[in-house]
Amino acid sequence: ATTLGASAAERGGRYFGTAVAAYKLSDSVYTTILNREFNSVTPENEMKWDATEPSQNSFNYSSSDQIVNQARSRGAKVRGHALAWHSQQPGWAAGMEGTALRNAMINHVTQVATHFRGQIDSWDVVNEAFADGSGGGRRDSNLQRTGNDWIEVAFRTARAADPGAKLCYNDYNTDDWTHAKTKAVYRMVQDFKQRGVPIDCVGFQSHMNQQSPYPSNYRTTLSSFAALGVDVQITELDIQNATPAWYSGVVTDCLAVARCNGITVWGIRDSDSWRASQTPLLFDGSGNKKAAYNSVLTAL
Ligand code: XIL
Repeated sequence: ATTLGASAAERGGRYFGTAVAAYKLSDSVYTTILNREFNSVTPENEMKWDATEPSQNSFNYSSSDQIVNQARSRGAKVRGHALAWHSQQPGWAAGMEGTALRNAMINHVTQVATHFRGQIDSWDVVNEAFADGSGGGRRDSNLQRTGNDWIEVAFRTARAADPGAKLCYNDYNTDDWTHAKTKAVYRMVQDFKQRGVPIDCVGFQSHMNQQSPYPSNYRTTLSSFAALGVDVQITELDIQNATPAWYSGVVTDCLAVARCNGITVWGIRDSDSWRASQTPLLFDGSGNKKAAYNSVLTAL
């Protein structure tokens, strides 16, 4: 096929998605590429806690609904991002601790997942809960300080609210199979599967930079998690300088793992990227296809 989404669909029904910002849906260069190339979308910021619950128990879905409706009207999937996260919390939650925060988190997950019930393919239920470095522990945060079980509580709450959605754990710096953080997430997923905590998928953000070589064990990481009985998805892909060989490496590694069912890039044009100065995406600022685009399409 001649587009990313159609080519991915021909590869065992996979998807190829992008992060979308609601305020850009009026930009026709942007939406032309979006509608042509991508059969899945992830709201870049619009479903985060600060956006959806700006004051406690008062919910605003205007921009998130806009993205969901645009996607669904053209048959694209939606990844929900993210129900529980230490970052981009509204001020009222960021200042909370203990039982009050735990209850606020549970209410948030329930309300947001219920609002979108039936419309989301996969939810990032919990985002970035593990620490960087070699310790292999949880990240310190107000949510973590409510008790180590906050992650499984978030998953059980999301399952109850939206039983048809796939529920994912999502993190970054988890590409390298030898990395302590990767192993720590793996042990959590293994434990959840053993104890029946509802988890269906693991998202690998894969914000890659080239201080280090391409992670040659990336495929091992994806297949090891898949062997636990979860789908794996590449959820926020961007690569410093958009080196074509790295992009094709990611696609090839995903295709080699049967349960790697989708890839999402974190924006459309370089100018849309949160790391724009590194020109890490598939389209240039004018919306032209870059060499990285061709390498992805060829690998698909
Ligand atoms: C980023 C967005 O791209 C920016 O617009 C925003 O200012 C900060 O968040 N990990 C995630 C994403 O899970 O939600 C982040 O998105 C990038 C890192």
